[in-house]
Amino acid sequence: MSQPCVNIGMVGHVDHGKTTLVSALSGVWTDSHSEEMKRGISIRLGYADATIRKCPNCPEPQCYTVSETCPGCGEPSEEVRTVSFVDAPGHETLMATMLSGAAIMDGAILVIAANEECPQPQTKEHLMALNIIGIKNLIIVQNKIDLVSKEEVIDHYKQIKRFVQGTVAENAPIIPVSAQQNINIDALLQLMEEHIPTPEYKIDKPAQMLIARSFDINKPGTPIEQIRGGVIGGTLTEGFLSNGEDLEIRPGYKLESEGTTRWVPIVTKISKIFAGKEPVDKATPGGLLAIGTSLDPAITKSDSLVGQVAGKPGTLPPTRDVFTLELNLLERVVGVIDEAEIGSIRTSEPLMLNVGTATTVGVVTSARKNVAEVKLKRPVCASAGSMVAISRRIGSRWRLIGVGVIKS
Ligand code: GTP
Repeated sequence: MSQPCVNIGMVGHVDHGKTTLVSALSGVWTDSHSEEMKRGISIRLGYADATIRKCPNCPEPQCYTVSETCPGCGEPSEEVRTVSFVDAPGHETLMATMLSGAAIMDGAILVIAANEECPQPQTKEHLMALNIIGIKNLIIVQNKIDLVSKEEVIDHYKQIKRFVQGTVAENAPIIPVSAQQNINIDALLQLMEEHIPTPEYKIDKPAQMLIARSFDINKPGTPIEQIRGGVIGGTLTEGFLSNGEDLEIRPGYKLESEGTTRWVPIVTKISKIFAGKEPVDKATPGGLLAIGTSLDPAITKSDSLVGQVAGKPGTLPPTRDVFTLELNLLERVVGVIDEAEIGSIRTSEPLMLNVGTATTVGVVTSARKNVAEVKLKRPVCASAGSMVAISRRIGSRWRLIGVGVIKS
């Protein structure tokens, strides 16, 4: 398997079949966390790689497969490219996780179950998130077609068409699929080749890795001499990283002394790089990576470094605990039954902010029509010009209300 070159998000309403579709495409069931198994929903970001292959003999779309031999003629298939899937949770309470996943998606598949009316609340909220973050390469999967009649599929297709009018998904292809019964998976692979191209990465810039997961990979009871260092997972947005190099992680760890709090960057060494299941010497942008470090695994366990940024020491963007945002708010709240109008941002109100893969809460210290200054509870590492997804507390939940750009 070659290194994955593109991240494809799996988004959509809860239970519409995102994890099942990732499994049909990659053979990996991404809900592995015990709570996820128990409740039957995705809680964390899942990820899995798949190599798209093509049979040189068979016609389209049957020639597309993920298997090494063509299911049609039994001949060996040829590798086209390896992709990484980012499986976002669909439950309304997990929107922050979806947004941090969206930060690393180059394109996305919006999964919509054909046996429910369209749009469901998070179908709408996820599409709005893709819309304002600017993820343009989209495919719509009309899933679970095995549960409905042909007439219902056609009627549902018309509902989708009406729903996407005027959005970034207006011209996205819509494909009927049964993830569970493996129907039309070959045609979906062909659409991924045609509609989600590999981005052109800036390899000559300093490395910047957005951390989406972090782990302690040691089993309980591992003898101390066999303990392996902490692992971070995420994606390089630019530049490259090599095995054996020093790595800086920002904002780093929180240091409290004499009544003050400081965030101290972490410096470590890269001990292993995994891209697409294979160990590699050098990681380049695109797809998801896992990087082994010499850090104490207690620092990386249970996703504790999610939202931080890694790169070569001295080259990372600044750590910010205040910033000024240029605002672009939506007109109405989406993802709820009562889609109330969104009023302007007020001084002293708390906002949930997603910057890259980081989720933080900030309090507005000054607000004008299109500009707000925000003081963060937890700092982020981000350069000027970075995009920030903004959510406001409405009822008991954070709801996406718009996007901002860091001015200073
Ligand atoms: P969250 O990540 O929690 O939002 O859910 P999800 O969108 O990942 O849904 P998941 O893949 O967990 O599927 C939910 C349920 O739908 C499971 O019971 C699946 O077996 C079922 N399912 C998924 N795809 C299909 C399909 O094509 N046909 C049928 N009949 N059932 C499906």
